[in-house]
Amino acid sequence: MRVPKEELKRLIKNKLHKAGLSESHADTAADVLVFADERGIHSHGSMRVDYYAERIAKGGINTNPNFNFEKTGPCSGVFHADGGNGLVAAKEAMVEAINIAKENGVAIVGVENMSHSGAISYFTNMAADQDLVALSITLSDPMVVPFGGSEPYYGTNPIAFAAPSSDGRKITLDMATTVQAWGKILYARSKNESIPDTWAVDEKGEPTTDPHKVNALLPIAGPKGYGLMMMVDVLSGILLGLPFGSRVTSMYSDLSEYRKLGQLHIVINPSYFTDINQFKQNITTTMNDLNNIKPAPGFSKVLYPGQNFDAVIEDYQTNGIEIVDDIYNYLVSDVVHFNKYNNKSPFAE
Ligand code: NAI
Repeated sequence: MRVPKEELKRLIKNKLHKAGLSESHADTAADVLVFADERGIHSHGSMRVDYYAERIAKGGINTNPNFNFEKTGPCSGVFHADGGNGLVAAKEAMVEAINIAKENGVAIVGVENMSHSGAISYFTNMAADQDLVALSITLSDPMVVPFGGSEPYYGTNPIAFAAPSSDGRKITLDMATTVQAWGKILYARSKNESIPDTWAVDEKGEPTTDPHKVNALLPIAGPKGYGLMMMVDVLSGILLGLPFGSRVTSMYSDLSEYRKLGQLHIVINPSYFTDINQFKQNITTTMNDLNNIKPAPGFSKVLYPGQNFDAVIEDYQTNGIEIVDDIYNYLVSDVVHFNKYNNKSPFAE
């Protein structure tokens, strides 16, 4: 069904507030989740509300955290999230990074001890909206085999990048370092459809086309994607003194414990490197160049990263955001959460 954006945000905020988040944290969290749904990134939108609500209600997210930003150098800082909501902590840390980059040219800000932070281009877009370039990376739970391995070690460790153009558009790259998101395998399971053998492996570490036999995901581009997810793990885990690799907590392990996740924001002020107007103009030129590349057979147009969201946003703004009926029914109900995630295996049916 279709739900107007403001109505969806109100419903999500209400549910998270009922679960225990303060009104202002619930408001920010709802904004980040609606950002994802609005772009068709439904795997990181309202679909996650019952999970977040269960974790909040069971104590695994600090509802009254002592957020503290420690500036550790002219261009660096650590945002201590105190077990608080990752959607909120990562946003507040990006505000700090933006202020530093405006003043000192670059900023590297880590967030430590937070919960899951959703679709992370929300944060890089904040910087691009202020004429800055941003990269953000974060830890996620171990579900991916290292190249050549048969056991999961790294998370789907995503990377987001955003850069502003001269006409209000921006480039937005936002990707997990796995071939496919876990949500796509769950979807194939629900429909009993086979999956390509490039997505995941079974218990022996062999590629599988049976979504029910999946025991780990595969990194993008073999050893290269594996190397990228390792880089994310080092910079948003080890660098911040946090659990890393397979020590990162699972999304569905003990829901009463804080997740201790990390995220790193890197923000660059182009005006410290070149003329800002020329920079933005050249980003526009790049976008136009890409759009003008002759498409390959089967493609109607080459899109720049993030342009694929435009048509979805336009449709949803006009007709409301597409939401699965069950999710809507939950959001309008009195149920706060369903008790379905605690200690669930990440690969369980
Ligand atoms: P995806 O595969 O749907 O898209 C990846 C990138 O490709 C995007 O930048 C998209 O704009 C671009 N793209 C897609 N189609 C395109 C086309 N036709 N032309 C040009 N560019 C195109 O994204 P993925 O990897 O499934 O990630 C989904 C979300 O999951 C992201 O928002 C990510 O931040 C989030 N995520 C969050 C995690 C967390 O722990 N917080 C963990 C893993 C993923």
